[in-house]
Amino acid sequence: PDYRKATFLQSAGKVSQCPTDTGWEVAFAGRSNAGKSSAINSLTGQPKLARTSKTPGRTQLLNFFALSDRQRLVDLPGYGFARVPKAVKDAWTRQLEKYLQERQSLRGLILLMDIRRPFQPFDLQMLEWGSAAGMPVHMLLTKADKLKRGPAEATLLQARKRAETYPEGMSVQLFSSLKHTGHKTLVGVLDAWLTDTSVLYD
Ligand code: GTP
Ligand code: MG
Repeated sequence: PDYRKATFLQSAGKVSQCPTDTGWEVAFAGRSNAGKSSAINSLTGQPKLARTSKTPGRTQLLNFFALSDRQRLVDLPGYGFARVPKAVKDAWTRQLEKYLQERQSLRGLILLMDIRRPFQPFDLQMLEWGSAAGMPVHMLLTKADKLKRGPAEATLLQARKRAETYPEGMSVQLFSSLKHTGHKTLVGVLDAWLTDTSVLYD
């Protein structure tokens, strides 16, 4: 797909409000501040795309961006959780799990983790749900520009080892929206997931 042609499609507060479950989509998940919106904006070359999806004053679970009539990216808002009542957090968590389990068009998950603190409890939960659903998870160690090359590579190696403890389909790379590190690798993963190869074997 041509990521530069991405357009905002819709927000959904619940799985039942998602667009029709056809074609293919890839969701960007991660803790609040991990760099999801920045990654989508830099991938699409549209500095304000992901931000425009946020309805002020109202928390939305899923934000959909169309790449074509059959291909979508999804921004799953981060879980800062700071001022949110527990009942609301629990409802979000249930919807997120439901989305990951039930969404037929979801081809894979991009899990963004700040390279300075990867594998927090939220991340482990996403990895668990991903592997339980047989869903590939590609992890981005974001803000890689915040570490020097040596420490960044060491963190990457450790993360690779950790990824290997999960069933197949888990991968990891360095990423920086600021320095455009790892963009080509990310595009390679997205292209593979968003393209229907199964049709070749029908
Ligand atoms: P929520 O929407 O709250 O879930 O956060 P988010 O995951 O969408 O994070 P966002 O893209 O808004 O980025 C959070 C902060 O990190 C912002 O201040 C960004 O400028 C900064 N940031 C994002 N990517 C990078 C990066 O590659 N390098 C550096 N140094 N900062 C970054
Ligand atoms: Mg965001």
